[in-house]
Amino acid sequence: ALDYYVPPYYPAPYGGWVADWQDSYAKAKALVDSMTLAEKTNITAGTGIYMGCAGNTGSALRVGFPQLCLNDSPAGVRHADNVTAFPDGITVGATFDKSLMYQRGVAIGKENRGKGVNVWLGPVVGPIGRKPKGGRNWEGFGADPVLQAVGARETIKGVQEQGVIATIKHFIGNEQEMYRMYNPFQYAYSSNIDDRTMHELYAWPFAESIRAGVGSVMMAYNAVNNTACTQHPYLINNLLKDEMGFQGFTQTDWLAHMSGVASAIAGLDMDMPGDTQIPLFGNSYWMYELTRSALNGSVPMDRLNDAATRIVAAWYQMGQDQGYPATNFDTNSGAAVNPLYPAAWPNSPSGVTNEFVQVQADHDVIARQISQDAITMLKNDGNILPLSPSQHLKVFGTDAQKNSAGPNACTDRNCNTGTLGQGWGSGTVDYPYLDDPITAITAEASNVTFYNTDSFPSVGQVAASDVAIVFITSDAGENTYTVEGNHGDRDASGLYAWHNGDTLVQSAASKFSNVVVVIHTVGPLVLENWIDLPSVKAVLVAHLPGQEAGTSLTNVLFGHASPCGHLPYTITKAESDMPSSVTTLINSEFLNQPQDPYTEGLYIDYRWVNKNNTKPRYAFGHGLSYTNFTYTAASINKVTQLSSYPPTRPAKSGILNFSQAIPSATQAVAPSGFNSIPRYIYSWLSQSDANNAVSDGKNGKYAYPPGYSTVQKPGPRSGGDQGGNPALWDVAYTLTVTVQNTGDLFAGKASAQAYLEFPDNVAYDTPIIQLRDFEKTEELAPGASTTVTLTLTRKDLSVWDVVAQDWTVPAVDGGYKVWIGEASDNLSIVCHTDTLK
Ligand code: NOJ
Repeated sequence: ALDYYVPPYYPAPYGGWVADWQDSYAKAKALVDSMTLAEKTNITAGTGIYMGCAGNTGSALRVGFPQLCLNDSPAGVRHADNVTAFPDGITVGATFDKSLMYQRGVAIGKENRGKGVNVWLGPVVGPIGRKPKGGRNWEGFGADPVLQAVGARETIKGVQEQGVIATIKHFIGNEQEMYRMYNPFQYAYSSNIDDRTMHELYAWPFAESIRAGVGSVMMAYNAVNNTACTQHPYLINNLLKDEMGFQGFTQTDWLAHMSGVASAIAGLDMDMPGDTQIPLFGNSYWMYELTRSALNGSVPMDRLNDAATRIVAAWYQMGQDQGYPATNFDTNSGAAVNPLYPAAWPNSPSGVTNEFVQVQADHDVIARQISQDAITMLKNDGNILPLSPSQHLKVFGTDAQKNSAGPNACTDRNCNTGTLGQGWGSGTVDYPYLDDPITAITAEASNVTFYNTDSFPSVGQVAASDVAIVFITSDAGENTYTVEGNHGDRDASGLYAWHNGDTLVQSAASKFSNVVVVIHTVGPLVLENWIDLPSVKAVLVAHLPGQEAGTSLTNVLFGHASPCGHLPYTITKAESDMPSSVTTLINSEFLNQPQDPYTEGLYIDYRWVNKNNTKPRYAFGHGLSYTNFTYTAASINKVTQLSSYPPTRPAKSGILNFSQAIPSATQAVAPSGFNSIPRYIYSWLSQSDANNAVSDGKNGKYAYPPGYSTVQKPGPRSGGDQGGNPALWDVAYTLTVTVQNTGDLFAGKASAQAYLEFPDNVAYDTPIIQLRDFEKTEELAPGASTTVTLTLTRKDLSVWDVVAQDWTVPAVDGGYKVWIGEASDNLSIVCHTDTLK
């Protein structure tokens, strides 16, 4: 048990010591200071599940603070009408295009604002994609910390610039769906992550999100090192709030709250959606219980003041105090008129809760561009692609056409029927429409036969020039649903295509001499059953395109644009080419906590295959174009001479002075005649409960845990600002490289990827190469070239020193190599940092 000991880290750091947030904190503190005890506990918890949005907090209307609407999904606005079903995270990751990531964020932010969502429950960087079969990897941007970090940062910027609070999730180690949740009969699994791996891999994208000013962090369902994330004093108090300087508020994942006092002092700020693990009875660990805990002294009053202030500060920080739209949709129903108090049904009055506000604007344009630029061409033998519209095309596979029952026939996309544009679960958006591939193909080509089947039909006479286009899929999602035997994770299908898709390809390949495979997938597949068949000429991975599955694909198929997507994960030849610690899905344990040891450490995805010298089928970053690019004339420019450790962190400035005084019991009791609605969760106590709590407090009945102190700490040496010590983001080197389109037929966009190799002689075991920056070029005409600039920060060149508890540059005089190219296995240029010594 000592192996997993979580040291105490108390008290919870107050927010408000970072310059960027100080105005918001000043206003928030003034507002919270004017709230009663019951108002403070009312705004830190949800009023119960299914109250309109995914979660709704209580309000403090007396002082002008509204209920907040918290809503999914990472790909738009979940359970709403007149919205855009954006391509999923994995798809935008595959573009390797920072500008598209940002523009998608802007559009998602506008749609959430337009619907009156205060807190958007995205983006996702956890799971990072450690387990190829993990159910929700597609909600995030790909199996690499830098790709995730950049995807999240750009998304958060775009969303929060619209005034919407973004939520980075799920913190942390939520790499598997099955057994992720505690329930009265079973423990959630524990992700057992060592300190260095935590910093260099899993926490990295969260640090970048915090640096971007993210307003909220969602604590994951699972445990880390045997303590549940929602009550983990190391993860919240130490890592998130002190080391990474997080200024917003933490919230639980839904029904992940497990304790009242322990979670509060561990730094949790908001309980969502308010109920205990069993919903709907009006019970909560907070609300009235937190009121009690404050009165009886078991939760220090300054902790509650800080939690409430963090929430109000995030609201001011995004400008939601100025003309923010009220919620105008209802996730419970698509009808206009619904119960006004859903929990009180059937005794609720009715009224208009859905106003059908149109928020799509022209967001289809950016959605389509992303879906198109994500399309990743794995092979193109004999340049069979692009096709000409006059070729005879035989299209196979039910994935080519949308579900005939309608694209939203399955709630939360909990089926794999018809075109697969999204995974399943809370990460989904209801389609306003689904532009499916077969509609787009038949609109463009004159000679198309479509076989809407996954078992190879009789096709009659085949001409040598006929082209078969075979659509196959692989789906995954949240553990809430089991789809075709898959419990969220791909536990049943493994890394093979669903609906016998691999057999469909093989059959087509035995009949046709030209086969093009199109794959809609949540993640990597093993392609070995057919990839080397001579007639399988081309393979396109279209990822999860959302509503824009059709024209985005035909633009590439027919050569209106060159494919320019790149794999955001590795495709291995066999599942066993990855370590068993990531290919094994953790099972439940009777009366014990299932353990998921991260024994592979830093070596996930391409880092693992490189270390083991295993040749993947297609490497991380791989993606072909109709044209060719060269990467030449690279140069490296030293900006900052690094020291072993970063300069001393700035001290916290202006630590707030929160009151520890316990308010009077009158602040905890409902005004007489207050009319409570059944099943809603309130923050009031009865007069006698309030009195008892006060006398318990006076008797000192509840001591703080060992290690508790009420004195605010200066914070660890590795902290100092949002994200950590700001010097970690000092630019150490800039690199420039000339990228030229050397083809003479097609324009195209190139992806420049920079991978860092640490010097051999450093005292740390480091992955052979690690992605550190990337840029997508504009579309380059044949012959055209451009100069791309990439940067390396101090953090990029550092490892986490577990003894010093700080980032350290292990080779200050250089000796690093920076490899630049278009894929992790196709790096044409190397720059040496020591050439400038
Ligand atoms: C559970 C999911 O894990 C989380 O991502 C989501 O935001 C909440 N449910 C709310 O729907």
